[in-house]
Amino acid sequence: MSLTDTQNRVLEEVIEGLQDTPKHISSKFFYNKVGDELFERIMELPEYYLTRSEYEILGNQKEEILQSIGLNNIESIIELGAGNAFKTKILLKYLLEQNSDFKFQPIDISQNALNKLGNDLKVEMPNLNFSPLQGEYFEVLKHLKSEKKQKSKLILFLGSSIGNLSNSQTNSFLKALYESLNPGDFVLIGFDLTKHPQTILDAYNDKAGVTRAFNLNVLKRFNDELGADFNLENFDHFPAYNPIEKSAKSYIVSLKNQTVNFKSADEKIDFKQNEPIKVEISQKYSLEDIEAFAKESGFEVAKHFFDCKHYFVDTLLKK
Ligand code: AVJ
Repeated sequence: MSLTDTQNRVLEEVIEGLQDTPKHISSKFFYNKVGDELFERIMELPEYYLTRSEYEILGNQKEEILQSIGLNNIESIIELGAGNAFKTKILLKYLLEQNSDFKFQPIDISQNALNKLGNDLKVEMPNLNFSPLQGEYFEVLKHLKSEKKQKSKLILFLGSSIGNLSNSQTNSFLKALYESLNPGDFVLIGFDLTKHPQTILDAYNDKAGVTRAFNLNVLKRFNDELGADFNLENFDHFPAYNPIEKSAKSYIVSLKNQTVNFKSADEKIDFKQNEPIKVEISQKYSLEDIEAFAKESGFEVAKHFFDCKHYFVDTLLKK
């Protein structure tokens, strides 16, 4: 099995994480074709309230959100990690109806994901000015900063994707984001709020087992794409929520003493029975946390937009 340069970089990072103590795998590796499909199923699960809550916010408050920026003041909507743009379409449709002259510019590392979204939008919104940007978030944003326009950019980072960062990574992320924007630009970020701990744990431990399949799929991906030989039956999904730290963490647990071979790298990894691998953090937030993040990075909080249960917030930040 011969690997591409990208696959070799992934392989190196994965092996480094599995040789560390404790072992860890980055959740960014979840999203291959099967992973994307499983995540789309997660968004429809009864326990996974995040997507529905944010959909409600955008549906009910789109006018107020967009009018806070000015309907004729939006140069472009730039989305970080758009996926199928299911929720974003609410904002795009509304702006098109208002005859606002704007571009939609999703940024993604995967050209394939951008093409797929582009084909879908061409059918659904033929009048949309779709101008995707392939690359790393900050490299692309830095490039856009140099072509300063009269009107504002609106950056979207929805779905509590920010929750995959630790709080200190979030501080660095927001500072870098602030630096890559011009004064007058806006950011809309989705944050999953604290609530009863059981409600949060259930969202990562659905009865149908889709989240289990989603997490274990990362091992399947390493078999298929990196030539590893994980036996998925020898691993378990273990989610936990710590209401003091406000973080949901998911682990993959080795069910026995076993050795996994990465043939293409000529590496073997030993697992002890019951040894955990950290695979994902999904951080939750209080409003005070969000206000502190904004302050620390230099952003002004324009407004918080909540769903009716106050499960979730979309916070509009302004530079
Ligand atoms: C896409 C990062 C927002 O953390 O809630 C869902 C991913 N993982 N179920 C989340 C996820 C397990 C999701 N984010």
